[in-house]
Amino acid sequence: MSGSIVDFRSDNTGAAAPEILAALAAANHGTAAGYGDDPLTERLQERMGELFEHKVHVFPVATGTAANALALAGVTPSWGSIYCSREAHIETSECNAAGFMSGGAKLHLVAGEHGRIDPAALEEALENAGKGLAHRSQPAALNIVQATDRGAVYRLDEVRELGAIARLHGLHVHMDGARFANAVTHLRCAPAELTWKAGVDILSFGATKNGGLTADAIVVFKEELVEPLRYQIRRAGHVLSKMRFASAQLLAAIEGGLWLELAGRANEAAARLATGIEALPGLRLAAPVEANMLFVEAAPEVLDGLEAEGILFFRRRRDLARFVCRWDVAGEEVEALLAALRRQTGRRAA
Ligand SMILES: Cc1ncc(COP(=O)(O)O)c(C=O)c1O
Repeated sequence: MSGSIVDFRSDNTGAAAPEILAALAAANHGTAAGYGDDPLTERLQERMGELFEHKVHVFPVATGTAANALALAGVTPSWGSIYCSREAHIETSECNAAGFMSGGAKLHLVAGEHGRIDPAALEEALENAGKGLAHRSQPAALNIVQATDRGAVYRLDEVRELGAIARLHGLHVHMDGARFANAVTHLRCAPAELTWKAGVDILSFGATKNGGLTADAIVVFKEELVEPLRYQIRRAGHVLSKMRFASAQLLAAIEGGLWLELAGRANEAAARLATGIEALPGLRLAAPVEANMLFVEAAPEVLDGLEAEGILFFRRRRDLARFVCRWDVAGEEVEALLAALRRQTGRRAA
C-alpha cells in the first residue's frame, strides 16, 4: 500500500502479485520460440486442461476486452446477434469491440437484476428474434458475465438454465470471466461445473485484475471453435510474439491455486466492507455483495464528503458509488473507508 491512499476505484489499480513477477523473472532466461510455440505455453495448455477437467485450447491475450471481443467473434458471424445483460461490460465499456471484431454483429440487451440475465426475458427475446428472416440479424451467442458487472454471482443452476436455453435456440455460450476467480471462490465449485458442464463453450479467463501483470486468456472448450479463432486472433494482432511471458503469468496464477487465494482476499475484504456498510444508517447496498465489488446508494452529500476526504472510488451516479476490492487491498484501507463513511453519514444525521 502506498502512503495513506485509500483506493477502491478498480481491481486493476493494484499491484501484480510477487509470485507472478517471480514467474516472469524465471521465464526470462535463454530463448524460446515465438507466437506460442514455447514450452511454457505448452504447459499452460496442459495445466488449464487439468484445471477444467476437459481438453481445452488456451489463447493468451493482453486484455479482457480482447478476450471478450475475439471469443465472441469466434462464435458469431457478422450478421449475428449477441445476447447480453444491459449491464454487460461488452455493452457498457468496450466501444462495441465485439461488433467490430466480428465484422458487424449486433448486441441484443436482455433484462435482469444485478447484471444477470433473466431466463424468461432471454427466452422471450429469442422467440421474437425472427430466426430465419433475412431482415433480422440472427441469434448466435449468449454472453454471461461471471461475476456480474454489479458484483453478483450467478449460481450454478442459473448458469445451467441459461446454457440450456442457449442450446435450445442454437446459441454458443460465452462467459466473460474477468472476475471468474472471484465467482469460483464465492461458489466454492470446480471450474468445470461453472463452465463446460453448465453449457459454456468459451471463456474469457481474467488474470490481470487478480494479480496478473498483462495477461488474460480465451479458454475454448469446443474443438471446432479453435481453428477459426486462430485466424481471428492473428489478424486482430493478438498473437503475442513473446507469448512465453503471458503464459508464465497465467501458469503462476493457476499452478498451486494462487488465483483462488488472491480472489479470496479480495472477496473477503468486500464482505467485511459490506457488513460494515449494512450497519450504517442512510447507506444501501444496491446489489448483493458476492464477489469483490460493492454498489452503494447514499445521499450525494455523503459521497461528496468521501471525495473531499480523498477516498478514491468510482461514482456511477451522484447517489451511487462503486467500491472494488483489489487482491492487495489493505485491511487499513477497508477500515479507513468505513471510518470515512461513518463520519459522513454521522455528519448528515447530525
Ligand atoms: C466484467 C469485465 N469484463 C471485461 C473487462 C475488460 O478488461 P480490460 O480492461 O482488461 O480490457 C472488464 C474490465 O473492467 C470487466 O470488468
